[in-house]
Amino acid sequence: MKVSFTETVLRDANQSLIATRLPYDKFEKILPTMDKAHYYSVECWGGAVFDSCLRYLNEDPWERLRKIKDRMPNTKLQMLLRGQNLLGYKHYPDDVVRKFIEKSVSNGIDIIRVFDALNDTRNLKVSIDEALKRGAIVSGAISYTTSPVHTLEAFAKLAKELESMGVASICIKDMAGVMSPSEGYDLVKAIKETVKLPVVVHTHCTTGLAYLTYLKSIEAGADIIDTATSCFSGGTSQPATETFCYALKNLGYEVDLDEKVLKEVNDHFMPIRDEYIKSGQLDPKVLTTDTNALNYKIPGGMLSNLVAQLKAQNAMDKFEQVLLETPEVRKDLGYPPLVTPMSQMVGVQATANVISGQRYSNISKELKAYIRGEYGKAPAPIDKELMKKALGIEKPITGRYAESLEPLFEKTKATLGDTAHNDEDVLSYILFPPVAEKFFANRQAREEKIVKYSISQIK
Ligand code: CO
Repeated sequence: MKVSFTETVLRDANQSLIATRLPYDKFEKILPTMDKAHYYSVECWGGAVFDSCLRYLNEDPWERLRKIKDRMPNTKLQMLLRGQNLLGYKHYPDDVVRKFIEKSVSNGIDIIRVFDALNDTRNLKVSIDEALKRGAIVSGAISYTTSPVHTLEAFAKLAKELESMGVASICIKDMAGVMSPSEGYDLVKAIKETVKLPVVVHTHCTTGLAYLTYLKSIEAGADIIDTATSCFSGGTSQPATETFCYALKNLGYEVDLDEKVLKEVNDHFMPIRDEYIKSGQLDPKVLTTDTNALNYKIPGGMLSNLVAQLKAQNAMDKFEQVLLETPEVRKDLGYPPLVTPMSQMVGVQATANVISGQRYSNISKELKAYIRGEYGKAPAPIDKELMKKALGIEKPITGRYAESLEPLFEKTKATLGDTAHNDEDVLSYILFPPVAEKFFANRQAREEKIVKYSISQIK
């Protein structure tokens, strides 16, 4: 039996521990070494990386990708894509989705892991189709959650559907780190019995279950696990690469990784990790274990948001009530997995329901859009009373929301004119308009400064 590894230090570990604030120049030097580790893939793009590059790091995310590709030509580069949401927070029209995927692949991405927060495959259709057309390897991810409708049968059926859409592997994506060892075992087994594809397991150490869950998942036949170099592992990040390499070899599994290279990689990131702890950007608290998510069945990140909301409204005495109301709201909404943006919507609504003392007297714009069907199909039917309250006589949409969106790419390209240097710039702008605008202005100022400087040198 062989187990392969996806290294997450450049994306998920970076995102989970230091809010994706790792600039390119901090890891450039180690890329040629990482290229020799024999990872199955390196996850380095997508998720929050794109947004963070433009918003906080003053980096062109496309340029970052090309530079990584140049220095790691032998390793498959992987990105995480939120289906029809791409790397933003709303649904984009199909022409934008297609262009974005075309450019991701031509700039260096080999593997696209694609997921939808509601597991609505209609939101994955266009991105999977275009990725296959561009020759990318597509991994179809299942957003893992527990509820009366999220059964083994339902997940296996979803895996089957993803297989028929042409994906090369199925990924179980447990973003909250709440999948237990036995749940992992049973789920991998159920998927393996249903489809003929490799299974990837992705989880976080948040609740402390991850190491056990990976091992049981591997016993059930999981082929690939996501891990982070040890100094960037644990807590809200993934389990350690070196630890699993050691333990699995020890158990007799075939592992391609080169330990000497893994050590060099970790030696590079260790002082960087220490620097972030010193500056306070890496809070040691996120490196420890937090079992609250297991007690409350609420992801850790959502729990801290609830506390912040209640504190801001001077209502911490209502904490227990809000914790009881949260699963009720989730049930009314048809059991959406508690990931972005659903976790925020459910949390805000539960808090409002408790504080006002009147359930759903106030429903947010976002939640109304969800109830209308703009995010996709809810896993279970939405409560009828709530639906009436939110939409009145308006009918929910039945089709795929993106079909109602006008094409946007060519129009935006024409409007931007010279401000956009290429199609990649146009896409950056469509995803994050004010942020990209500011980035373009900074870039322009930088270029003018360089020109001025070289002219002064000639003089
Ligand atoms: Co993750």
